[in-house]
Amino acid sequence: MPRRAPAPSPRRSFDVVLYGATGFVGRQTVAYFVQHAPPRLRWAVGGRHAGRLRSVLQQAGADLARVGVIEAESQDPHALHALAAQTRVVLSTAGPFALHGSGLVAACVDAQTHYCDITGETPWVKQLIDRHHAQAERQGTRIVPFCGFDSVPSDLGAWMLTREMLLRHGQPCVDVKACFSLRGGFNGGTVASALNAMEQHGHKAFGDPFMLNPPGSAPADAAAHADVHAPRHDADFDAWVGPFFMAPVNTRVVRRSAALLSAAGDRAYGAGFHYQESLRLGRGPLAALAAAGVSVGGGLGQGLMAFAPGRRLVKALAPAPGAGPSERAMNQGHFRCELFARSAAGHTLRGRVADRGDPGNRATTKMVCEAALALALDIEDDEGEGGVLTPATALGERLLRRLRAAGMTLQV
Ligand SMILES: NC(=O)c1ccc[n+]([C@@H]2O[C@H](COP(=O)([O-])OP(=O)(O)OC[C@H]3O[C@@H](n4cnc5c(N)ncnc54)[C@H](OP(=O)(O)O)[C@@H]3O)[C@@H](O)[C@H]2O)c1
Repeated sequence: MPRRAPAPSPRRSFDVVLYGATGFVGRQTVAYFVQHAPPRLRWAVGGRHAGRLRSVLQQAGADLARVGVIEAESQDPHALHALAAQTRVVLSTAGPFALHGSGLVAACVDAQTHYCDITGETPWVKQLIDRHHAQAERQGTRIVPFCGFDSVPSDLGAWMLTREMLLRHGQPCVDVKACFSLRGGFNGGTVASALNAMEQHGHKAFGDPFMLNPPGSAPADAAAHADVHAPRHDADFDAWVGPFFMAPVNTRVVRRSAALLSAAGDRAYGAGFHYQESLRLGRGPLAALAAAGVSVGGGLGQGLMAFAPGRRLVKALAPAPGAGPSERAMNQGHFRCELFARSAAGHTLRGRVADRGDPGNRATTKMVCEAALALALDIEDDEGEGGVLTPATALGERLLRRLRAAGMTLQV
């Protein structure tokens, strides 16, 4: 990406503020920072209730004399501006982001504070791009949504393979596909965010495969990139696959990365670059049946969420905000994302992104915390290159190295 005017570097009290630290994932980010943040890092927790923030710090065994506490309600612009002005980076886990994130991102852009979060709410991010991309790009402020399970494995995985293709074969990638297998639970906050997005926008708002692309960068054959709903046997993965429920988020993020990098002269993503992902069901007739079941179930689930009575039912059955899987369930979780890439000349490469632990909690916490640490510690104040970005375009190699060092598999 081209260098922009460097952001001024006013002195800040903190390197990172963990906003939403009292939530289910927020509490895990606090524990991660207590265990893994370098001692020199100056950090604080933020949220709407100072007392609850302090008790989260106590429970995580944090040194209360060293970690700051900043009270800021998500609808209070003055408090959010004061918070953003005190730190170099904000990491937010306060969702639904469409309800609690807009003021915070606006404050970060105004204060030239880098920002990352774990949203999967694509219509909300589209609004952020429209409102803030130009200013953040001019200033060199990095606003980086999607730093959790959606969409780091997809985005960094595709980025890693396209780079390796260029390095090994001198060819851009024209096609990357990903195939996920996973075990994990659902948080109340995740269900609340999905319900809120459906209520605010309706399911049609999620359909455009290029909804996060810069204006004018969607290809003429956009329909050929539509989400895949049918079950099929994929010879490259030697497995039956069905629709993956997170593909409507991840594919948009990967396409934004491809468009931003290509516009900046990067050759790794070829013209007409194609990306799709699916859920791996396995081999044999039972897997074929499961793939068909997932396709039908996915359609029914979408139908249920499209209508108010269906959403009420989901709300009644799901965990409440603040709750999530048990410690045992989170420790037993895992995910694996297999990737297959092809160049225009027919070269192929395989890759894998994988980790142990519940993807929506353990892996998400690791990914977003390492993203915040990369923003705080690996990027110079005068580096520029801002905007409403993606994990790959904002952090690329730096996040890849950090996640590998933190035990995540990212291999070609
Ligand atoms: N990308 C991924 O893979 C992934 C994985 C998991 C979750 N998520 C997303 O992350 C978000 C959080 O999930 P979660 O399970 O941690 O949810 P949660 O437990 O409900 O936490 C929500 C947080 O938002 C805070 N909050 C609510 N209203 C607020 C307000 N008016 N002002 C300031 N803060 C406020 C809550 O503070 P209080 O404690 O004061 O209520 C809490 O800290 C959701 O949007 C979810 O979809 C993404």
